[in-house]
Amino acid sequence: MHKAVLPVALFTLITLFASCFATQACNNHTFSNNRTFAKCVDLPVLNSSLHWNYNRSSYTLDLAFWHVGKTPSRWVAWAINPSGKHMIGSQALVAYQSNSNGSMRVYTSPVDSFATTLPEGRLKYWVSRLSATFEKESEMTIFAVVQLTSNMTTINQVWQEGPLNGKGDGPSAHATSGDHVKSFGSLNLVTGVTS
Ligand SMILES: *[C@@H]1O[C@H](CO)[C@@H](O)[C@H](O)[C@H]1NC(C)=O
Ligand SMILES: *[C@@H]1O[C@H](CO)[C@@H](O)[C@H](O)[C@H]1NC(C)=O
Ligand SMILES: *[C@@H]1O[C@H](CO)[C@@H](O)[C@H](O)[C@H]1NC(C)=O
Ligand SMILES: *[C@@H]1O[C@H](CO)[C@@H](O)[C@H](O)[C@H]1NC(C)=O
Ligand SMILES: *[C@@H]1O[C@H](CO)[C@@H](O)[C@H](O)[C@H]1NC(C)=O
Ligand SMILES: *[C@@H]1O[C@H](CO)[C@@H](O)[C@H](O)[C@H]1NC(C)=O
Repeated sequence: MHKAVLPVALFTLITLFASCFATQACNNHTFSNNRTFAKCVDLPVLNSSLHWNYNRSSYTLDLAFWHVGKTPSRWVAWAINPSGKHMIGSQALVAYQSNSNGSMRVYTSPVDSFATTLPEGRLKYWVSRLSATFEKESEMTIFAVVQLTSNMTTINQVWQEGPLNGKGDGPSAHATSGDHVKSFGSLNLVTGVTS
């Protein structure tokens, strides 16, 4: 019994040690608008990271979602999902580059169906200072301030990216395999711990 427990305990210790000292690549990221964030996490899939300041007395989440992609003609989204670690119920922030004039379109979309094309709509949370940038022909960032409630220290986050529709004027369905079905998890806004 003890022989089995010791290696497990050691492994846990080493893992804890490693995660404490591992430097996340997101810590090195600087935003061109010089915005700074106290915390960040490298998200495990889809070349993304989340950067944020969380005010524990006002429950205000000031965030940047950063994604590196391959082509400009795609959309990105980051969401809080109060109903679970899945797509339906996601309170999403969406951005893409408009093909008509190259400016970024950024808006909110509550996800209520698997067939959604992410139409604009009101979220359960008040969102302000919403903006987005597209840089270096590959990097998209969404900035926003989201007003949360006291019971949301740990949130479910969902993120995604996909192609634009044929006219290039809105999102169409993302891939439904590989990393695209693994892009969710929980996040403690105070400690930065993800799972
Ligand atoms: C962050 O930048 C430092 C200094 O430039 C560098 O030594 C380090 O390897 C970088 N870390 C990551 C995870 O990219
Ligand atoms: C960001 O900071 C750099 C260096 O201090 C400065 O040159 C640049 O103008 C700033 N950019 C913005 C958007 O404020
Ligand atoms: C957090 O919110 C409180 C209440 O609105 C405010 O007084 C305080 O200045 C905020 N703290 C920061 C660091 O913004
Ligand atoms: C992820 O980003 C790297 C560059 O940072 C790029 O080479 C790679 O193609 C990207 N992967 C995807 C799936 O976009
Ligand atoms: C760019 O085009 C979109 C519609 O395609 C429009 O809503 C937006 O106002 C335009 N932006 C600028 C800066 O012209
Ligand atoms: C948090 O509290 C609000 C009411 O203040 C409630 O509507 C919501 O369902 C709660 N959320 C969670 C995740 O428990």
